[in-house]
Amino acid sequence: MNQRLDRHGRVPVRRGVVWFVRRSARMNPRQTRAWDAYSDHWVLDVPRAETDTSIDPTYAVDLNQTFGRKAPLIVEIGPGMGNSLIPMAKAHSHANVLAFEVFQPAVAQILARLARESVDNVRVVQADAVEGLTTVVPPASVDQLWMFFPDPWHKSRHHKRRLLSSEFADLAASVLKPGGVWRLATDWADYATAMRAVLEAHDGFVSEYPGGWAPRWEERPITRFEHRGIEAGRRIFDLSYRRR
Ligand SMILES: C[S@@+](CC[C@H](N)C(=O)[O-])C[C@H]1O[C@@H](n2cnc3c(N)ncnc32)[C@H](O)[C@@H]1O
Repeated sequence: MNQRLDRHGRVPVRRGVVWFVRRSARMNPRQTRAWDAYSDHWVLDVPRAETDTSIDPTYAVDLNQTFGRKAPLIVEIGPGMGNSLIPMAKAHSHANVLAFEVFQPAVAQILARLARESVDNVRVVQADAVEGLTTVVPPASVDQLWMFFPDPWHKSRHHKRRLLSSEFADLAASVLKPGGVWRLATDWADYATAMRAVLEAHDGFVSEYPGGWAPRWEERPITRFEHRGIEAGRRIFDLSYRRR
């Protein structure tokens, strides 16, 4: 059987899987005001395919034009309300930071803070990161990929919904530059172990901390999600893998 490939010759990550927890995406009045005022500037508006978090697979964009400059590229997957995205983007002002977040109210919160703090090196795509990495981000273009506290899907019957699989690692490997770094964190030990197993087995990645976990990345502010894990007595796991 012939395997369908995407336009860059990659095997697509499984389609039709919902990787994220679906919640009511209704924005409150403040969020609506922030969206109306700031989305033109900070949101990269993408054409949709089937759903409101999808991206038309034929879409192409010049990210240097989107950011108005050529600069190293950092991509964050699932920034939530941006509590680590925004301080870290400010600390990496030399880089263009592109974030994929499915939940529109969270994007609106990000926009309000970007505007309040006049941060201009961030753009947000309100879409599934799988489709974003496939369509919006060019191959071998990313210097750093960040994925902090992804939805853990802790019931074992839901593990197949976890974002990090070997196919997703293939996709991440395809967008990272050689030498680019993928930083991850989670407070769920079994997800951390599964992430590490996938990345150790992947010939596109080498651990920056062979044989162990990465130390906590000092630069990463503690978000609500990390705090919740600590309060519940869970250990926080950091991982850091370099693209060969
Ligand atoms: C548990 S929260 C963590 C938020 C943030 N990284 C932090 O540490 O505070 C996970 C976030 O990822 C988003 N998300 C989950 N799957 C996603 C996907 N496939 N593409 C884009 N965003 C996703 C969710 O909507 C949610 O905001």
